[in-house]
Amino acid sequence: MRVGVLTGGGDCPGLNAVIRAVVRTGVAEHGMEFIGFRDGWRGPLEGDTMVLDVAAVRGILPRGGTILGTSRTNPASAANNVDGKSGIERVLENLESLGVDALIAIGGEDTLGAASKLHAAGGRVVGVPKTIDNDLGATDYTFGFDTAVNIAMEAIDRLHTTAESHHRALIVEVMGRSAGWIALHAGMAGGANVILIPEKPFDLDQVCEYVQHRFQSQYAPIVVVAEGAHPKSLDEAIGGQALDEFGHVRFGGVGHLLADEIERRTGKEARVAVLGHIQRGGTPTAFDRVLATRFGVQASRAVADGAFGNMVALRGTDIVRVPLAAATSELKLVPPERYAEAEVFFG
Ligand code: F6P
Repeated sequence: MRVGVLTGGGDCPGLNAVIRAVVRTGVAEHGMEFIGFRDGWRGPLEGDTMVLDVAAVRGILPRGGTILGTSRTNPASAANNVDGKSGIERVLENLESLGVDALIAIGGEDTLGAASKLHAAGGRVVGVPKTIDNDLGATDYTFGFDTAVNIAMEAIDRLHTTAESHHRALIVEVMGRSAGWIALHAGMAGGANVILIPEKPFDLDQVCEYVQHRFQSQYAPIVVVAEGAHPKSLDEAIGGQALDEFGHVRFGGVGHLLADEIERRTGKEARVAVLGHIQRGGTPTAFDRVLATRFGVQASRAVADGAFGNMVALRGTDIVRVPLAAATSELKLVPPERYAEAEVFFG
């Protein structure tokens, strides 16, 4: 069997661990041959491939990023229709002409949504869920999340000491466009003073009260805010108008808005640290390496079993198969009761 592999969407620590496990399992257990597609869906759309054998995956387990490259190309977007053929049709044609029997697509909501459309059009696809945001409904955890949380936690630990020395408030903006999982976990692990998430629009007066209270107790306030969080006074998250091929707005700016408002309303100094892509780079934690490796092993086995149209997922401690469509049907948001556990420590 000849199996294509692609990684799509934002990169994420653990992608290389999945690729390695996919190839090693497929070769050792099933005598499969692999072909790498470059830069997400752009690879199969344009027939851009690379060698993906056991030698190519040697030494990549601890490496961040993806040896295959990634992009936010959406094969289902009208922009990819050429000469009356949709992007999905072009992908199917290219897979056939390259002799690819099955495809393993590693990605988040968008990449797996396109995989689901390819499957509906007759493609033989298995998905692997990926996102540092941990917001895919069909799996308990995605790899990359644990690494991102640990990076953010370490940053918060460091910011505590400098904030206290200068008697300032420190605002830490982390990733999380629709779900506040990174903010919640990093904020709890780092002992943040306030955690703000997209799921619960915040009250600026209340945030400033927490900040004042913290200053009164002689400690410096650390406010952790997810990029997609917004004040009650605004209907939507703060960001530019730029859209990617999947129609997502690029967020950013809530940290600075908070710092300005805190300074204005409390008279205290506030500084902002926007962690951005630092959270996505570098080597994965042990948890993410193991999860990514288990996903890779099971993805190759799913291909060998002909279980197409599914993605591998973590349920409790087991790796299971769930329909690709389920992977993308519902985002996993922070439930109010989980947020309430963190609120105990606010102020
Ligand atoms: O989806 C993962 C994510 O990290 C989001 O939290 C963030 O909004 C987005 O990717 C940013 O990605 P990029 O800057 O690569 O487009």
